[in-house]
Amino acid sequence: MSFGNAKWVWMNGKMVPWEKATVHASVHALHYGSGVFEGIRCYETEDGPALFRLDAHLERFVCSAAVYEMSIPYTSKELTEAITELVSANGFASCYVRPLCFRGSCNLRVDPEDCPVDLSILAWPWAPLHGSDSSKAGLRVCISRRKKFHSDMMPPTAKASGQYVNSILAIREAKHQGYDEPILLNTEGYLAEAASENIFLIHGNTIVTNDEQDSILLGITRLSVIEIARDLGYEVKIVRLTIDDLMTADEAFVTGTAAEVVHISQVDGKRIGNGQCGPITLRIQQEYMRAVQGRNPGYAHWLLPVKKATAMQV
Ligand SMILES: Cc1ncc(COP(=O)(O)O)c(C=O)c1O
Repeated sequence: MSFGNAKWVWMNGKMVPWEKATVHASVHALHYGSGVFEGIRCYETEDGPALFRLDAHLERFVCSAAVYEMSIPYTSKELTEAITELVSANGFASCYVRPLCFRGSCNLRVDPEDCPVDLSILAWPWAPLHGSDSSKAGLRVCISRRKKFHSDMMPPTAKASGQYVNSILAIREAKHQGYDEPILLNTEGYLAEAASENIFLIHGNTIVTNDEQDSILLGITRLSVIEIARDLGYEVKIVRLTIDDLMTADEAFVTGTAAEVVHISQVDGKRIGNGQCGPITLRIQQEYMRAVQGRNPGYAHWLLPVKKATAMQV
């Protein structure tokens, strides 16, 4: 299985062996996608494993849950303890962490009001989404025929399970056409984002990206990259982005917790720049990796150390 040697799952307050962390087929979230989740990375640093921007992820988790009228039955402090214990119990030096808050089993009316709010947290080793060498090869993307949903339909700033069927359709379409990743336009025809990453373009020395008015999830990697780029002395502008902006960019890249920072090599078969990772993207990518791996003390406040991992026996 692709979850490697994950042994423990945190479920509704308890550490449960991986095989026993199951739910019933009548769970509301399975039928209607009534859940919210987070994706967090824990990196290997010189001082042991460390969670990257856990506080920001938990804040977004609580906000996503609030949109769907779920009150998370644990405080952020309790969730922080649960996550650090989970990483330790699994004995991971680095891993991906996936908290999921979802409507459990009670009835299958669409209205979830009577269904309990359940919470599970998974952790497993996960290489960068587009492969370990994606930072070199880059991504061949297409402009998707699928539009990103507008906030009048569903809130793009909430990370809700059911909302991802939009990304699933777009990514399958892209793969069938031989691309690595789709770029979704919003309903007004501006760039929104990739299936699970935000987008940045570079023209000359100026870096541009969009924001929530263009139907994106406000990525925590996006936020980190904006700060890193500004600290490096680049101008970062938040503007609406058009297809032409993308097609004429000197460099373009996507950001996400799972993918990290990956350059776009082609759009609909047309090369961006010379197709290689451009110098500004490379600098940001390297600086981002230094930050997450605790190699830049200026960003140490983004890391939460986890006790030296000692795998707990099942
Ligand atoms: C739709 C979407 N956009 C952007 C992102 C990037 O967000 P983050 O950087 O917080 O992982 C993600 C990943 O969670 C996503 O699913």
